[in-house]
Amino acid sequence: MDENLKKEIENRRTFAIISHPDAGKTTLTEKFLLYGGAINTAGSVKGKANSKYAVSDWMGIEKERGISVTSSALQFNYEGYCINILDTPGHQDFSEDTYRTLMAADSAVMVIDASKGVEAQTIKLFKVCVMRHIPIFTFINKMDLEARDPYELLEEIENVLGIKTCPINWPIGSGKRFKGVYDRDTKKISMFKAVSVGGSKSAAETTYELDNENFKAEIGDELYDQLVDDTELLDGASEPFDQELVDKGELSPVFFGSALTTFGIETFLEHFLRMTESPLPRMSDQGLIDPIEEPFSGFVFKIQANMNKAHHDRIAFLRVCSGKFDASKDVYHVQSGKKMKLSRPQQIMAQDRKVIDEAYAGDVIGVFDPGIFSIGDTICTPGKKFVYEGIPTFAPEHFCRLVALDSMKRKQFMKGVTQIAQEGAIQIFQDYNLEMSEIIVGVVGTLQFDVLKYRMENEYGCDVRLEPLPYGHIRWVKDTTIDLNNVKCPSDAKRVKDMKGNPLVLFTNQWSIKLLLERNEGIEFEEFSRN
Ligand code: G4P
Repeated sequence: MDENLKKEIENRRTFAIISHPDAGKTTLTEKFLLYGGAINTAGSVKGKANSKYAVSDWMGIEKERGISVTSSALQFNYEGYCINILDTPGHQDFSEDTYRTLMAADSAVMVIDASKGVEAQTIKLFKVCVMRHIPIFTFINKMDLEARDPYELLEEIENVLGIKTCPINWPIGSGKRFKGVYDRDTKKISMFKAVSVGGSKSAAETTYELDNENFKAEIGDELYDQLVDDTELLDGASEPFDQELVDKGELSPVFFGSALTTFGIETFLEHFLRMTESPLPRMSDQGLIDPIEEPFSGFVFKIQANMNKAHHDRIAFLRVCSGKFDASKDVYHVQSGKKMKLSRPQQIMAQDRKVIDEAYAGDVIGVFDPGIFSIGDTICTPGKKFVYEGIPTFAPEHFCRLVALDSMKRKQFMKGVTQIAQEGAIQIFQDYNLEMSEIIVGVVGTLQFDVLKYRMENEYGCDVRLEPLPYGHIRWVKDTTIDLNNVKCPSDAKRVKDMKGNPLVLFTNQWSIKLLLERNEGIEFEEFSRN
């Protein structure tokens, strides 16, 4: 046993932050990096400026910088741990990649805006975490602003997301009356005092015991009595902390704080690191692959095409799942059966992208892809031949008919859409019965439509028109042998098949899905496909 390797892997934590736009994901990430000493000033996380650009800017940005690797994974060290944060793009660039990134994370931190509660995008991302049974931590942010009742927030998380909650700390007031948090384990209070440090906001923390007279005087009788009541109520009524349930993703430890003012971040990090595990074994067609015992292996979870016309290259993002990656050694790409060296492996450290020589299980690396990798591919040490469990296809929510404006260019047109679909940027569907009659494109985030049009015109020389379709929901039929022609469909639904011939139905609304299920006893649908 290589003790160094074991130590490196055991010290690793790889998690994704999920939230609805504006809940504070970028701010929280930035504060983590500040604690890790990876950056010196707030406002330096690159993803932030980029995450809010308009569509037109996006094209410019991508063209300028070639391949974007800024928003993939950030690594930093904290108290002996090596932490990888995976970014889940939101805003305009919300796409299937956002879901796929969750396939590479070992746990997730869900950031919730305390004044808003659980929002749409969080629900979508949460479902993927549940499917993977990974631990989910909740950070209720913006306590320095007027917040909703904390009990109500917990109830909403439990009801809307269907996960049990266990508050690890508890807020004392909110907004202007936000006084701090009470740690339920140590029974100590961290008092909050917003201070301004060189223009950026921060919080001064003082620690008190619950019965400290100065503390009582400082928060006043009303808040004090409420806190005493809360502590008793919580001990009696809330779920007890249970590490096993946390590990299975059935109980979410909840923390209250304020990312902007850096309040509650350090205590969150410390609890989080204690409550999470280093990379765990991952399932392959030959059983579980141990991250420490097995030599290097990993899988591709994301492919990013270069928007620069002059460079038709792509970057494949690889999650290392076992052993140590050594850039000087050959690896084996299982799907093509080829031995190769991964060229220009790189990693993101805070805001810098650098070429690396080695990486360990838990890390994410980006490698140059000459067009041989597909999403879900396994890369391992020569001599090994297992295949990691595949990455599912997630349900798109926006659909367009894609029309080639020049019918003479049918060949390039088909090549373009097929290649772009293989990269995983879009999904393509056809009418269930009429072969090649029309191409229906489905995407998770509408920015992908612009990317598709841009790439079809610039890379494949095909002018295209995208005609919006009214569908917003898609369902894979669980039993793929069913003949959809025998299924009674509501008039506003459409029978289609995907590139692999799997049967699916497109719906305009939830009600229509319900109607189909009622009319066809025994039919079962899925919101993602593992086929
Ligand atoms: P996102 O990545 O989840 O989209 O959210 P982001 O961190 O960009 O935060 C969204 C807005 O909320 C930002 O304000 C940010 O400063 C603010 N914010 C984040 N955490 C807190 C918090 O704990 N308290 C308060 N009061 N505000 C918070 P903005 O005005 O949109 O951007 P900026 O001008 O501050 O950069």
